[in-house]
Amino acid sequence: MKKVTRAVFPVAGLGTRFLPATKANPKEMMPVVEKPLIQLAVEEAVDAGITDLIFITGRTKRSIEDHFDKAYEIETELAARGKHELLRMVQEIIPRHVNCIYIRQNVPLGLGHAVLCAQPVVGDNPFAVILADDLIDAEPGATRQMVEVYNRHHCSVLGVEDVPRAQTFHYGIVSSTPLEERLEQVSGLVEKPMPDLAPSTLAIVGRYVLTPRIFHHLAAIKPGAGGEIQLTDGLVALMNEEKMLAYRFDGVRYDCGSKFGYLKANIAYGLKYPQLREMLLEYMATLK
Ligand code: UTP
Repeated sequence: MKKVTRAVFPVAGLGTRFLPATKANPKEMMPVVEKPLIQLAVEEAVDAGITDLIFITGRTKRSIEDHFDKAYEIETELAARGKHELLRMVQEIIPRHVNCIYIRQNVPLGLGHAVLCAQPVVGDNPFAVILADDLIDAEPGATRQMVEVYNRHHCSVLGVEDVPRAQTFHYGIVSSTPLEERLEQVSGLVEKPMPDLAPSTLAIVGRYVLTPRIFHHLAAIKPGAGGEIQLTDGLVALMNEEKMLAYRFDGVRYDCGSKFGYLKANIAYGLKYPQLREMLLEYMATLK
């Protein structure tokens, strides 16, 4: 059986909900406390045994490449100042055995199209897709949990969680039947249904482990509303052909594509720092 050693990070979106911050800088470089979202996503992938990181990038995304590259100036400066701990932190952002591969998505034709752009590098292998703006605080990481499911069932696995019914129109929603604890067999998928039409409240969030057959289906899709190629349309075609599972990951998700989710993540992660925790709690108690 082929192992999941590749992860695709679609980072070519426009990030309109965070304008003007995202006018010249990628949404994925926004920090949660001091780590950019994309670094947290990469750490999750590396923890899952991924060795090839495939970034689907676009214009204004150069800083992502720079972030994972060697930084001669700052490294020389930190070494000269004897700041060895910081130097090591900067040098160890990507472990040596891990490769970074960048593919440009020239036009943002949607998430499905972004995933399709990875085909030349992924080839005939299973792969993970990680959306960095869905930050998942989990131990073990959500991708690792899903790769373990893939290793047992040898089929595509969607990361899902229950959302309030009023919010179904923000998500792909699955119909499914329970298989085992945390695991469902997917029987249907709809993109962004209105609450009264949603078949369930089980929403796909930004984690997937997919078989390479998805590329065949994505390549066949005609752009839908807004000229975009939706990943969900490809998943529906894949589900009709192969077994597909939905996995309720064990962890807390922060929707960092929204302002509220992003602020919540900063508070929750900030509270993990012993040197910040008390100060933050005291400060928050003074609010309102
Ligand atoms: P979103 O739907 O969150 O869009 O994309 P967005 O552009 O990032 O943000 P808003 O809604 O305008 O604020 C989901 C994921 O798919 C990627 C995005 O980078 C994000 O990680 N994406 C989307 C692409 O890589 N290419 C696309 O053409 C569209």
